[in-house]
Amino acid sequence: MKAAVFSRGNLSFKSDYKKPKCGADNILVRVKAAGINPIDYKVGWPIKGPVTGIDFAGIVEEKGDKVGDEFKVGDEVYGGTFNGSLAEFTIAPLAGVAHKPKSASFVEAAAMCTTYSTSLQSLRDYGNLVKDDRVLVIGASGGCGTAGIQVAKSMGAKDIVGVCSGKNEEFVKSLGATDVIDYTKQTIKDYCLNESGAINPELQFDVIYDAATNSGGGEDYKNISMELLKPATADKKHGQYVAINGSRDMWIRMYTIGFKANQHMMLAKQNPEDLQQLAKLVDDGWTNSEGVQEYLKPVIAEELPFTAEAVEKGFDLLKSRRAKGKIVFKMD
Ligand SMILES: NC(=O)c1ccc[n+]([C@@H]2O[C@H](COP(=O)([O-])OP(=O)(O)OC[C@H]3O[C@@H](n4cnc5c(N)ncnc54)[C@H](OP(=O)(O)O)[C@@H]3O)[C@@H](O)[C@H]2O)c1
Repeated sequence: MKAAVFSRGNLSFKSDYKKPKCGADNILVRVKAAGINPIDYKVGWPIKGPVTGIDFAGIVEEKGDKVGDEFKVGDEVYGGTFNGSLAEFTIAPLAGVAHKPKSASFVEAAAMCTTYSTSLQSLRDYGNLVKDDRVLVIGASGGCGTAGIQVAKSMGAKDIVGVCSGKNEEFVKSLGATDVIDYTKQTIKDYCLNESGAINPELQFDVIYDAATNSGGGEDYKNISMELLKPATADKKHGQYVAINGSRDMWIRMYTIGFKANQHMMLAKQNPEDLQQLAKLVDDGWTNSEGVQEYLKPVIAEELPFTAEAVEKGFDLLKSRRAKGKIVFKMD
């Protein structure tokens, strides 16, 4: 089968890669589309298998003996697998697969698993986002940022301020951001100052979702973010800072002494319940405070064929950090 293999920091395209075998607890998926994420070029074997890519959408080709009635051959599924999604077939463990949203194409569904699961878990489990919250999304025009804005909206956030380049302002607003900070012109702290140079409490945030720190340009939003969180009140916990990447010190803290009560760094955990919930938000949506029905809608920056040239092009674009949304390969 065709597969994109990431080995010793190099990506290569194979046309005669061995088709994987379905284990008793897994399902074999014929991949129809596969999305890519920065982790795909940052982390390889032995943490992940040699075939690159995590996110997939496809059709159940075969299921293991221990897999129950929840999946049958021919079902349309989506999810994430460390067995590699940039291939014509992949093995999906049950922890990382759910039925595909019916109203999403395979390409759209393949754009979802990592960024939407990360955003949902960040905002819900660490940010404790509740209705009418004021949220800052840093890296708002990228994969996790575009998902984060939509997920924050679905959870009832009232104000969503996105941080991105000025050229992406209208795009980010079209996803639901109520305002935008152009990080090339203004710091997030300057945005929150009043005329006398003090932080305006009205502009502080309940949740700061940081999808940019330590992602390639030397940027670090942690310390400045801590100044911009709302303090605790009688009826509300203080604001929460949730980073999905950070400095080496942050990673060490995460695995050792942990963080202060209002700062977090998280690693997304795949689970079928979250994938099902996200699929429902794509298909059924939610009713916003104005009574309007809204839906999650993955943003596809680039849909590419599954060829050696296109895989190289896709990863170059991903590494540039300039993709507006997700890069997805369509297998046929
Ligand atoms: N912990 C986890 O479980 C987890 C899960 C997924 C991803 N991640 C990590 O999260 C990070 C983001 O992933 P992604 O998929 O969203 O990547 P991405 O799509 O490449 O993100 C690009 C975004 O970063 C923005 N950006 C670039 N430089 C910036 C700066 N100096 N300040 C603010 N924003 C800046 C870009 O804005 P403009 O183009 O508008 O300038 C764009 O919005 C990566 O480091 C990834 O490895 C972690």
